[in-house]
Amino acid sequence: MRRKILLGITGSIAAYKTLELIRLLRQDGHDVQVVATKSALHFFPVLTAEVFSGHPVYSDLFDPACSVRHIELARDADVLLIAPVSADFLSKMALGLADDLLSTLCLTVTCPVLVAPAMEENMYVHPAIQKHRKTLAARGIYEIPPETGPLASGKEGLGRFASLETIRHSLKTKLMQNERWSGVRVLVSAGPTYEPIDPVRFIGNRSSGKMGYALAAASAARGAQVTLISGPTSLPLPPGVEVLRIETAEDLGISMDRLFPEHDICFMAAAVSDYRLDRPHSSKKKKDGNTWTLSLVENPDILSGLSRQKSPGQFLVGFAAESDMNPEKLLEKLRKKGADMLLANDISRPDIGFSSDENEITLFHPDGTSLPLGKHSKIVLSNKILDEIEKVWRCPAASSNGNKDQPNGNAPLSD
Ligand code: PMT
Repeated sequence: MRRKILLGITGSIAAYKTLELIRLLRQDGHDVQVVATKSALHFFPVLTAEVFSGHPVYSDLFDPACSVRHIELARDADVLLIAPVSADFLSKMALGLADDLLSTLCLTVTCPVLVAPAMEENMYVHPAIQKHRKTLAARGIYEIPPETGPLASGKEGLGRFASLETIRHSLKTKLMQNERWSGVRVLVSAGPTYEPIDPVRFIGNRSSGKMGYALAAASAARGAQVTLISGPTSLPLPPGVEVLRIETAEDLGISMDRLFPEHDICFMAAAVSDYRLDRPHSSKKKKDGNTWTLSLVENPDILSGLSRQKSPGQFLVGFAAESDMNPEKLLEKLRKKGADMLLANDISRPDIGFSSDENEITLFHPDGTSLPLGKHSKIVLSNKILDEIEKVWRCPAASSNGNKDQPNGNAPLSD
């Protein structure tokens, strides 16, 4: 499998090891184009990298050869691997800064992005870096975690550049995963619905959209074509995802019904209001000293409606927001709604579920089997969910490529 690898090198002492990585990737049959930051140039011999890669090493955005080519570099890349990524460059990526060729490419590429950090332990565990790691993970960027071992300072600790074998394996796994998911169309609903009471007030719920956005980001990072139907949230949009905004359950139902037939996998992560006002007020209701009674009617169940129109080959995933995680009742919910998989989360716990960065999910299959996926960040859980879907639903790309027997590509993301 020959792929075009854009290899970013940043200012870390581990950059000298990248020379050997170029050689190994070429040995695997890949085309390797090196782009280095200015600081990286202090740590490795450019001429050797050029001989090993068979291409000039690009660095300066304002070098006429690079400024003309940078769009082309981004467009042609099958994967962007930044190894090593320094604390400085990782922070730059999280903030979206673009003041050199490599950082500009980070904002331009649409291919998967992997980063392999290398830095002192104190830097890696610093809250600023941990926050930036989470930001990158939420965008679907894969981290090849650093190892514990001798560091440049002479100390032992976490932050050592992953072994070249690990990087090579992670890259291969990621490329295979992308083969399987490329062309798969994924539809995700996320966030709350707002049911109007009058032009000012509404009935809503505590969904932040984080779970659905994480599923959308993880699917897009695997190369799927993702449509996200989002209720009102303040979250940044995951890159590479088409978004449609809705407010009410009725709007969501209309959009889901329209788009579902064009998709292969559908996640109903939205917290849909079960009720709406019978007749919303057309103007703001003024205080009049009396009790105000609202008359509510039930909203149709969108998930059940989708299961009735499901075609063979489509895969429908429902969520269950429960305060009682009774397996019998959850299985009954799965069967009643006609989904192919149910992801149950306990919304009575403050540390998971609504609005939190983490969740804990138990996955139920219609045959009655279940799998606890554990407590993780929502992006890590999303990757675990996608790995499970790969086992039970055959991606069309996988069957057409004859890849179906290949091992699952567990994303090397950590919490
Ligand atoms: O958004 P976050 O803050 O990250 O929080 C995530 C979450 C807790 C909202 C999410 O993980 C979750 O559980 N989403 C489903 C919420 C919900 O509506 O659950 P439910 O048990 O009431 O409904 C079961 C399923 O039916 C859900 O897939 C739901 O989308 C769907 N449904 C519900 C009502 C309705 N009228 N139509 C539906 O399709």
